[in-house]
Amino acid sequence: MKNFRMLINADDKIGHINRELYGHFSEHLGRCIYGGIYVGENSDIPNIHGIRKDVIDAFKQIKMPVLRWPGGCFADEYHWQDGIGDKSKRKKMVNTNWGGVVEDNSFGTHEFMELCELVGCEPYIAGNVGSGTVQELSEWIEYMTFDGISPMSELRRANGREKPWKLKYLGIGNENWGCGGNMRAEYYLDKYRNFQTYCKNYSGNQLFKVACGPGGGGEYWYQWTEVLMKNLNKDQVNAISLHTYNVPNWEHKGSATDFTTDEYYTIMDLANYMDTLITRHTEIMNRYDPENKIGLIVDEWGNWFDVEEGTNPGFLYQQNTMRDALVAALMLNIFNRHSKRVIMANIAQVVNVLQAIILTEGEKLVKTPTFHVFDMYKAHQDAECIYCHSQNVNLCEGKHVPMVSSSASVKDGVMTITLANCSLDESAEISCDICNFDAKTVSACILSDEVHTYNSFDEPEKVSIKPYEATLSGGRLTVELPACAVVTLTING
Ligand code: AHR
Repeated sequence: MKNFRMLINADDKIGHINRELYGHFSEHLGRCIYGGIYVGENSDIPNIHGIRKDVIDAFKQIKMPVLRWPGGCFADEYHWQDGIGDKSKRKKMVNTNWGGVVEDNSFGTHEFMELCELVGCEPYIAGNVGSGTVQELSEWIEYMTFDGISPMSELRRANGREKPWKLKYLGIGNENWGCGGNMRAEYYLDKYRNFQTYCKNYSGNQLFKVACGPGGGGEYWYQWTEVLMKNLNKDQVNAISLHTYNVPNWEHKGSATDFTTDEYYTIMDLANYMDTLITRHTEIMNRYDPENKIGLIVDEWGNWFDVEEGTNPGFLYQQNTMRDALVAALMLNIFNRHSKRVIMANIAQVVNVLQAIILTEGEKLVKTPTFHVFDMYKAHQDAECIYCHSQNVNLCEGKHVPMVSSSASVKDGVMTITLANCSLDESAEISCDICNFDAKTVSACILSDEVHTYNSFDEPEKVSIKPYEATLSGGRLTVELPACAVVTLTING
């Protein structure tokens, strides 16, 4: 066992944790939308207008704040008018990015907006810049948000929706340096300026415009951020995005469930790199925007492994173990600590794709260890992140894998501390001094198991949240973190 001192200072506020830091991403990819979220009205699986009820309930359980759609790479090939009106007449298209399967467009704007309404989350639409037109995106906004008389609002009414929806988050393209058009930063910048001009605020709706930002770290990507920040003013952009996945090697990504300790450390090292990435991009943003008006949105993040054996390689279906839970825990702690600049983050992807929080098979549904971490962290939403620092050790020479990951926040007189012990074989005793907060009682819960453990359709509850113990005496908190564990402490003042 290792002993660590920790210090929390409730008076030292680091940033407001927007609830959107706990956001999600859904793409027309594999079984994310079809089968995962949407089964159609005639399905035997309980649904509301085709949307799975069990999925809605699960999304509500974690207080899902925002859902990004329809891509991903799919977004820059998506023509929204194909996905409205009579379903039997909707155009069928080929999903060129993801397995070349037929996309029948039965899940479109109305279905997505209804899903968000049922869950109670903000919709975040990614517009088509790569293969779409300025007019097409402009009309989509008009279709969704205009309350008056116009061709698009009339079309929406003819399709059964009288009142406009509220749409806040709008991405102007996705990965336009890659699948979204292979553009250079300067070219995308001009495209962005052009497209955003015609994305209007109708009927009291206020768009929050997100430009396609960098895809990682290194000079190329820092330059991308620099070009955007230097040439966009605050009336044109509200945030820039950052995408990054934990992939050791794109040719051999490795198995989601069968991995060595060395492979485990590699993924943890990549996950911890998020801290450096955000720090470096934030430094550039600070130079052009010291007042912090433009946010950073990490709207795709997570582990990317080889697909499960026997599944379509274009569907990106992978299992989810305690390793994924630790990655989620430490990355969410990083986002909390950077909440001054990072205003949203969306894990990829929500159901059946990559580091999914939910897996489905027919009518069965499994909540993955990553789901449970979102459940354990939800009290951070809309709280104030406060100073929290722990003594630490690095677990692997040549890599950056701190044993303990932590963050803390306060909301409505309640302090939430989230901790992860990333060691696979050693427990950690944390002895924490809490300053400027009258800590009266503590309760705790834990997610812990051997690192390869996962929830299957036969054993859906194998990894689950359990009650836990911590002690509080004279302002000092003591808790033991077993190896490979995520712990949430709730302290009432
Ligand atoms: O999430 C899978 C893909 O990863 C998305 O479509 C794309 O934006 C990213 O490269």
